[in-house]
Amino acid sequence: MSQLIEVKVPDIGDYKDVPVIEVAVKPGDVVQAETALMTLESDKATMDVPSPAAGVVKEVKVKVGDRVGEGSLVVILEGQGAAQAPAPAPAAAPQAAAPAPAPAPAPAPATPAAAPPPAPAAPAAGGVVDVKVPDIGDYKNVPVIEIGVQVGDTVTAETPVVTLESEKATMDVPAGTAGVVKEVTVKVGDQVSEGSVVLRVEAAGAAPAPAARPAPAPEAAPPAPSPTSTARPESPSRPPASALGERPATGAQVGAPRAALPDGPTHASPAIRKFARELGVDISRVPGTGPRGRVLHEDVQRFVKGVFAQLEGGASPAAGGAGGGVTGGGALNLLPWPQVDFAKFGPVEVKPLSRIKKISGANLARNWVMIPHVTQFDEADITELEAFRKAIGPEAEKAGVKVTLLAFLIKASVAALKKYPEFNASLDGDNLVYKQYFHIGFAADTPNGLVVPVIRDCDRKTVYEIAREMAELAKKARDGKLGPADMSGGCFSISSLGGIGGTAFTPIINAPEVAILGVSRSSNKPVWDGKAFAPRLMLPLSLSYDHRVIDGAAAARFTSTLCQLLADMRRVLL
Ligand code: COA
Repeated sequence: MSQLIEVKVPDIGDYKDVPVIEVAVKPGDVVQAETALMTLESDKATMDVPSPAAGVVKEVKVKVGDRVGEGSLVVILEGQGAAQAPAPAPAAAPQAAAPAPAPAPAPAPATPAAAPPPAPAAPAAGGVVDVKVPDIGDYKNVPVIEIGVQVGDTVTAETPVVTLESEKATMDVPAGTAGVVKEVTVKVGDQVSEGSVVLRVEAAGAAPAPAARPAPAPEAAPPAPSPTSTARPESPSRPPASALGERPATGAQVGAPRAALPDGPTHASPAIRKFARELGVDISRVPGTGPRGRVLHEDVQRFVKGVFAQLEGGASPAAGGAGGGVTGGGALNLLPWPQVDFAKFGPVEVKPLSRIKKISGANLARNWVMIPHVTQFDEADITELEAFRKAIGPEAEKAGVKVTLLAFLIKASVAALKKYPEFNASLDGDNLVYKQYFHIGFAADTPNGLVVPVIRDCDRKTVYEIAREMAELAKKARDGKLGPADMSGGCFSISSLGGIGGTAFTPIINAPEVAILGVSRSSNKPVWDGKAFAPRLMLPLSLSYDHRVIDGAAAARFTSTLCQLLADMRRVLL
């Protein structure tokens, strides 16, 4: 018998109004007892809200950015059978939400044990200072799960240098003193307790580190995301700590707060760390795409897929950053991005990339490395279509619309997508999702960069309606007024450079779509009609497709069909 369970935020100590930074489940997901449903992050601790029982998620009551406190209803769960052990009474969240073996409720980060004070580093009069594990409550023999620095790194007092993980909490040990790392005295897997020396640091100058005193942790922590007390509860088991790779160098800027560091120690919830360890992944190598570079569940999945792709000789998706921003080789083991002082060679002007360019650049880079692209080229005879378009021009103008070639291309593409549904699909793990709607995106060039607004339900719209909507969306795009809803839900995209020029190009697929049509400038060409050469207006088409989903033969059939449709648009009616 199933039963609805209201999952509430358990006792999270003194924390109130804590933002939800990650929601890990959606309605329909099957979860086990202890599965992390979501992650909360205060300025001092990151906490998972675990599922109190096995079951199916019926409703998620919060979204990323919502603020919650103890007792906030976050998920409605349909418990499975009678076996749903500690089924929580709706109001009894803390105990019910903590099926962990330990007596304390899982997310209890605000306890002193889970939020250790800065390490009491032993000052050594201008010389080398021992960095020791601070008071970590009752925890003893806690395994080191991550080392965030290496010999030669410069650290500040607040730099998290080592991460420990007990059964219930993940804790960072701060350097406690500013200086240069001389020696790392522990390795991943070593077990440490209060007072264990983990590092030796040559103190910087004569300035003694103020944070080196054992201060009361939570309240005394700095206002920014505290690097000294990033306590994270609930990590019930310790799988083997094998790793897929070596930790990259952390550089000299490791002193910034952990959460703000893209290349510092890894920021991830305990559940994600556990997930990574179960897969044998060194989480420090996983590029995080969450808020402030946080590693998300899908980042780990993507990383693993990338490693397998590499092993199989394919490309790795893991190096998803925009080219100019990538400083390491990532999982592709590429050479580091060249660091050049361009000003050495002549005058330069440095301008920041626009927001759109940054976002689209990262997306394009990911799509380029993750999708095995092939581009099929073809030419459509649009002599009749162009004559028709010109003929209806005045009439369309009276109706207040400029009918562009692109509107016909959208209509023809929809007919081709209906005939070849795998082009109107998306990969979802091992499944292919076939869409029964026809929302077509078109690339629009704006002063700030490329955007792809989407025209919905193109199968149900006339060419006039499509042309009108396209003009509106293109204007909105150029005015920088497109909202997320204007750019989401696309099934297939068209990138037309025909108004500008060119004979062919290889467009990058707009994931999770599986194909994109590139259109170049039409020109009159002599075409053999069986008896003689005749001048025909030919339109170059470049169809890039995801070869994991679409075979070359299917792509050739798709473009042939498109050419037939464009040569005689009456076929769209068939
Ligand atoms: N061949 C020849 N001429 C073409 C053509 C083609 N394939 N496509 C358009 N033209 C002509 C049009 O007929 C029009 O001429 P006209 O005014 O005499 O009728 C002229 O080029 C300009 O067309 P445009 O206003 O650009 O309309 P459009 O429907 O072709 O394109 C947008 C609309 C929004 C897609 C377009 O303005 C745009 O932004 N294109 C760039 C897309 C891009 O950057 N893609 C690259 C992504 S990597």
